[in-house]
Amino acid sequence: MPSNELSKVIQELVKYGYNAEPEVVQFINNTPDPNSTIKFLISNIPEEIFTLNMSHISNIYGRSPSTSPSISILNDMTGNSTGSGTYNDFVSIFQDRLSQLTSILSNRINPYPLNSLKNTSGEVRVVGMVSNIQKTNSNHILIELEDISGTFSILVHNNSEIFNLTDEILLDEVIGVKGKLSSDSEILFAEMIYFPDIPLNFRPPHATRPVQAALLSDIHVGSKHFNSELWSDFTSWLKTPEAEPIEYILIAGDLVEGVGVYPGQDIDLEIINIYEQYDAFNECLKDISGDISMIMIPGNHDAVRLAEPQPGFDLEIKNILSSSNIHFTSNPSTVIVEGVPILMYHGVSLDEIIAETHSTQVSYDAPHNAMIQLLKKRHLAPQFGSRTRISPEQKDYLVIDKIPSVFHSGHVHKFGYGKYHNVLVINSGCWQSQTDFQKRANITPDVGYAPILDLDTLNLTIRKFS
Ligand SMILES: [Fe+2]
Repeated sequence: MPSNELSKVIQELVKYGYNAEPEVVQFINNTPDPNSTIKFLISNIPEEIFTLNMSHISNIYGRSPSTSPSISILNDMTGNSTGSGTYNDFVSIFQDRLSQLTSILSNRINPYPLNSLKNTSGEVRVVGMVSNIQKTNSNHILIELEDISGTFSILVHNNSEIFNLTDEILLDEVIGVKGKLSSDSEILFAEMIYFPDIPLNFRPPHATRPVQAALLSDIHVGSKHFNSELWSDFTSWLKTPEAEPIEYILIAGDLVEGVGVYPGQDIDLEIINIYEQYDAFNECLKDISGDISMIMIPGNHDAVRLAEPQPGFDLEIKNILSSSNIHFTSNPSTVIVEGVPILMYHGVSLDEIIAETHSTQVSYDAPHNAMIQLLKKRHLAPQFGSRTRISPEQKDYLVIDKIPSVFHSGHVHKFGYGKYHNVLVINSGCWQSQTDFQKRANITPDVGYAPILDLDTLNLTIRKFS
């Protein structure tokens, strides 16, 4: 830790007339906002104490802050949005997507440029972005693939062993194909389809000490249907000895219900002002011990732009959420907690994956299977221009560049988890009881789930409040 940062903490304490032992200075410096932590501590310290030690800190927080939180964020794009919405920005983002995913696939299949195929014969391998996919009159699948050199037509025969893979292919995703060229080299007959995918032998990094994180999502404070009783049950449980190892809470968006999110939302609102919704959410956090570090990304109900990647909350919202232990970051973000890379993504594209993927395994009742599709495609919102809004940026932040140990989402309000090539995949459900809209659509949300992750073993314990 740079000594000038520690000096600033000491100076700030002295300003208020306090000293602190070195461990306390280190502890304060490791919190996301040391100045807020100092204000919180001195407003809670007994009058007669002027030199803070760790037992004072434990008394204030009601538990022992045994170690410093270990959090780093890899790809927070807050404040780094470059898109101006021009045609060139859209070209940039697709070129970057193609480039990043081609390099992942190229390691495995050594592709030919598409414009070279007309001068080639026999077996070839190619990589490109799917610009069109359609069924032919003979019920084969014709895929138009595009790379920076040109386009080429790929035919997947309906008798081929790989035909069922075409059910999973979406527009704008990047795939690899191995096949044989027709005699006139005008079309490629596919024999193998490759997704960028997670390597089978991926070994997920894990923590080196026993410590846990609660992975939550979709709290929806401000909605008439926010289940405050279950939330209180959860925060009360956090104070029990059983919850002692929990040092982190991650929330994958939709902290509040928001306003104007869908037509007629007003009748579902308990609190109609968006800032008052965040005030109420802040009250919900007050019961959580101050030495639990929280990480939050926005969702589509939050007061942040809808287009993805969504930047983290602005200063106005951050100031309302006054706990000093919250790390705000963009949606998506990869956060490294105790050495464990956790990909946090709210999950709007899951609606699209569930609607467009023709596999029976991918459904709202098994949201983790839709998330697995995203891992296979190494992209969080593969299909452009439909339900998921994408902000044109120079860099495609939605490419899954770093392989996470854990992939954490929400949005669909259904709980589900599974493992894919050693990556733990979790959709956290929600804290909002069934809305009238859900009743009419026959959707039963999974309410009050707190999946608890052992960061050292990557095992999951499901805690359900009811
Ligand atoms: Fe939600």
